[in-house]
Amino acid sequence: MQSWIPLVPDSASTFSWKVDALYFYLSGVTLFFALLISSVLIFFVIRYRRRTPYEIPRPIAGSHKLETLWTIIPFVIAMTMFGWGAQVYFQQYKPPANAIEVYVVGKQWMWKLQHATGQREINQLHIPVGRKIKLIMTSEDVIHDFFVPAFRTKMDVVPGKYTTMWFEATTPGTYHLFCAEYCGMNHSGMTGSIIVMEPREFDNWLSGNAGSGTPAAAGQQLFQSLGCASCHGANGEGGRGPTLAGVFGQKTQLQTGDSVTVDEGYVRESILNPQAKLVAGFGAIMPTFQGQITEDQLMQLVAYVKSLPAGGQTQQPATTTTPAARQAASPTQNVK
Ligand code: CUA
Repeated sequence: MQSWIPLVPDSASTFSWKVDALYFYLSGVTLFFALLISSVLIFFVIRYRRRTPYEIPRPIAGSHKLETLWTIIPFVIAMTMFGWGAQVYFQQYKPPANAIEVYVVGKQWMWKLQHATGQREINQLHIPVGRKIKLIMTSEDVIHDFFVPAFRTKMDVVPGKYTTMWFEATTPGTYHLFCAEYCGMNHSGMTGSIIVMEPREFDNWLSGNAGSGTPAAAGQQLFQSLGCASCHGANGEGGRGPTLAGVFGQKTQLQTGDSVTVDEGYVRESILNPQAKLVAGFGAIMPTFQGQITEDQLMQLVAYVKSLPAGGQTQQPATTTTPAARQAASPTQNVK
């Protein structure tokens, strides 16, 4: 499955041809002008060489037409690069809503991955072909970078925050996974593989690796054992602390009057540094969990909060996700 062009890696995701096309365009434009300028240069050196020791060149008056032309042409070319590049970039870095989620923790010097269905992997990721996959990533120590050349995408994996990336594989096979950020002695060995399977094979793989329960279930246990339930309600329905049920992906109003979208990063920050962005109507009473839970446990708590249907688990999910319904479901949630 090696590409037909030497040194170009396999092409196996929905972006790879777009990145390649842009790359070949940039290379083509560069090559064209490099050849044009160097051949004109050589031609002029010969054509306008000094022929006698006392020769004086003809004075040049300048040309507005010519100057306008060589300003406009490079401008148009540069703008095509910018516009095309921005389009490819935004498509790559905005994860779609309906993706299969996988949690990734990088550490010196290995990749730990967990599927939303519970299966854990180290330095390997099994995914089905033709499905959108979203990675939610963080690091336990230094900055790493999740790089899959065949998918033409990479993203930094940074301690203290979540970063995300997504891709959709187009061809079954095994592809390299590299760490693309120097992270210490064994950085070059921090590699792995992405195994792209036919959907049915993937389902077999999933059921053959049932493993340790889902991250959301583990998160629920932590939620009880860490005492979160005493303020946020047994099912995240709220109480002395803000409602957690059904808020994921929604906007929430803060004490400061700003609003924030409840995403993985916000939930994580609120566990480690609860005072940073207080929900309107609630005091600064929550203790920090900084240093008390691992990155894996944090991701499990995030997965749990994400899994909570609106109105607590005792009520019907899905239909009550409008802001008004959420407000009705949680009388403690104030307007600013
Ligand atoms: Cu991890 Cu380089």
